[in-house]
Order: sequence, then C-alpha cells, then structure tokens
Amino acid sequence: MSYLADLDLSRVPSHVAIVMDGNGRWATQRGLPRTEGHAAGEEALFDTVDGALEAGVKWLTVFAFSTENWQRPAAEVSFLMRFNRGLLRRHRQELHEKGTRVRIAGRRDWRVPGLVLRDMDETVEMTKHNTRMTLTIAFNYGGRVEIADAVKRILEDHDAGRLKGERITPESISSRLYFPDMPDPDLLIRTGGEMRISNFLLWQAAYAELWFTPVYWPDFNREHLFEAIRDYQKRDRRFGRIEDR
Ligand code: IPE
Ligand code: IPE
Ligand code: MG
Repeated sequence: MSYLADLDLSRVPSHVAIVMDGNGRWATQRGLPRTEGHAAGEEALFDTVDGALEAGVKWLTVFAFSTENWQRPAAEVSFLMRFNRGLLRRHRQELHEKGTRVRIAGRRDWRVPGLVLRDMDETVEMTKHNTRMTLTIAFNYGGRVEIADAVKRILEDHDAGRLKGERITPESISSRLYFPDMPDPDLLIRTGGEMRISNFLLWQAAYAELWFTPVYWPDFNREHLFEAIRDYQKRDRRFGRIEDR
C-alpha cells in the first residue's frame, strides 16, 4: 500500500536531489563490514527511483561518490568503484525500459577505473533519448570542483576570444556547470542523520528546500521519499521575496 494518494500531484518537486548517507553505520550496527551497507543501498536506490517515477519527479540526482571519498581506505574505494559499475550493468536495461535517461555528473579523472567509465558511457548512450525522468548519478562529484571547472571554462573562453563582451554574472557560472540544462533542485534530501551538504550541488542548491532524516540509506524507500515530498508541499518558498499583497 503506497501513500502516493495523499500527495498533491500538481505540486511535486521537479528536481529531487539525495545525499545517500548512512550505509557504513547501517552495516556496523549489524556487525557487518561497511561494504555490506553500500550493497544494501542498491535496493533503496531503485525503490526510490520507482517512487520518483510514480510521483512524476522529472529530475532525480543522487550522490554516489564524492571527491572527498577517495580519502577512505583503498579497499572501500575499490569496492565502491566495482559496486557502482555493477549497479549500472544490473539496472540499465530496466531504467531504459522505464524511460529514464541516465547521466553522470563528476570529474572523469585517472583515479576512476576505465571499466567504470566505459559502463557509464554505455549507459548514458543507451538511455540518452529517454524523456520521462533524468537520473543523474553524482560520481567523483564535488560542488567546489564543479564551480572551479566552470570558472576555468570562463577563463578559457576569455583567452580564446569567445566571451564576446559577456559580462560575468551568476548565469556565466550556471551555463558552464556539468549540465546547464538541469534545473536547480527543489528538494534536497539527506539520509543518515547528518545535517550538512558535504559539497553536494553547492551552486544549484541555493534555494533548495532541505529535508533530513535519521533513516540510514539502506532502510530508505519510496514511502520516505513521499514523506519528504509531502513536507515539501507545506513549505512556503519565498526566494527572498515577501508575499505580494
Ligand atoms: C554513504 O554512506 C555512501 C558513500 C559516501 C559512498 P557512508 O559510507 O558515508 O556511510 P556512513 O555515513 O559512514 O554511515
Ligand atoms: C556524502 O557523504 C557523500 C555521499 C553520500 C556520496 P559522506 O559520508 O562522504 O559525508 P561526510 O563525510 O559525512 O560529510
Ligand atoms: Mg557518510
């Protein structure tokens, strides 16, 4: 039984972003190695994807690996590389059939194994014409690096004479982020109890509504997503204005 019924389907956030956190603690609590927690997060992710599709969310962005996560023990990092590759291979056909376009946001640097990049590229290519929802997987992603990369591109455009009198405005940055066509997140969810951004979508989350839950990511499912959306629907998004009356 799903609680989708009490959502106002005319006011579903267009873009939901999620920091999938708490995998390690979920596992430790059960006397399991941390990696088991990551593995258990797979079911949570695809139940959440199905929930987002059901609710009519158009953009879903999930934080899978941060630019800071390289500082974890080598064994955990290599597990996460293998795991995320496997996850794409196991689910891409199903995502494709459900009309989901998959994109990867992050740095393609030498630390990401070639096989991981290959499967990412294949998944992106396979699903690129789908229009029902865009699932962006933030992988080797950091908000600061993304902004620094955008600034670098402004300088390159300047040096190559491509700025053509363009004034430097927030739009100059926005249009040079990884996916300029991606709308800003309306709702940003973080599981696992920490109330911080941890370098996720720094630029884009300027006016996102934040929703935190102590639930560890492997225990998260579409009902929690609907709960977050229901809460979002009660918020008054002012964007710095006051009511105009
Ligand atoms: C989130 O869970 C997954 C990644 C960061 C890759 P964690 O691994 O951070 O789990 P906790 O926060 O240590 O419980
Ligand atoms: C954020 O979680 C990154 C991902 C979920 C991929 P972390 O567990 O890395 O964040 P901190 O270290 O608690 O801030
Ligand atoms: Mg964590």
